[in-house]
Amino acid sequence: MKRLRWWRRDGRLFEAIEPDGATVTEHAPALARWYNTKENASMMGGSGDMTLDDVATFYRELADGGGHGFLCFVDGLLVGDMDLRSVRASSAEFAVMIGASTTKGRGLGRTFATMIHVFAFRDLRLARIYVQPKRENIAVQRLELRLGYTLDDSPEARSHADDDDVITMSITSPVFRATNPDAWFAVELE
Ligand SMILES: CC(C)(COP(=O)(O)OP(=O)(O)OC[C@H]1O[C@@H](n2cnc3c(N)ncnc32)[C@H](O)[C@@H]1OP(=O)(O)O)[C@@H](O)C(=O)NCCC(=O)NCCS
Repeated sequence: MKRLRWWRRDGRLFEAIEPDGATVTEHAPALARWYNTKENASMMGGSGDMTLDDVATFYRELADGGGHGFLCFVDGLLVGDMDLRSVRASSAEFAVMIGASTTKGRGLGRTFATMIHVFAFRDLRLARIYVQPKRENIAVQRLELRLGYTLDDSPEARSHADDDDVITMSITSPVFRATNPDAWFAVELE
């Protein structure tokens, strides 16, 4: 299992774990509950009726397709998940969820997103990452803009769009590294 670690200045430990099947099964009830919450499903294009088996299938298919899913923990408590999907030779697509409304808006999404981008650019040596946020998803767009993403309407970027209701953005490795210099060295990969 790959594990990303980032000790923050306030003493909290942010950990992102690429889970095996047993770890997915352990956390599937919380993940399914969060995926099915209206506020999350509407922003992630989810069906709203994912079962525990659907969660396990999602993680298995992600890994089988060359993607990387991570469970996100703060001081050992699960708070959400994130992944790199549609992984190609030098690019991938990024998605993230902070599950509970009580833990949203406190900087967790931004911190975990930064960690997986360090993994993607520094450790996997990808060149570019794409996102396809819904037009109304202001929170994730702000998160992505702060990481260094810019609008990208190229055919390659639009190929990541699941429907017309999304904008497409991308970020390159040098831009991410210049925008997030501390994280590049501080995030540990185990
Ligand atoms: C989008 C999401 C991952 C953001 O994570 P978070 O921990 O809540 O957000 P953060 O606290 O890290 O804040 C990130 C940015 O969003 C802004 N933000 C957070 N909540 C917001 C809200 N309700 N409305 C507008 N902006 C918001 C923050 O101000 C911050 O921007 P800033 O740095 O310019 O101030 C989280 O809200 C989530 O999981 N939403 C549901 C699933 C989803 O939309 N996933 C993305 C699609 S793949």
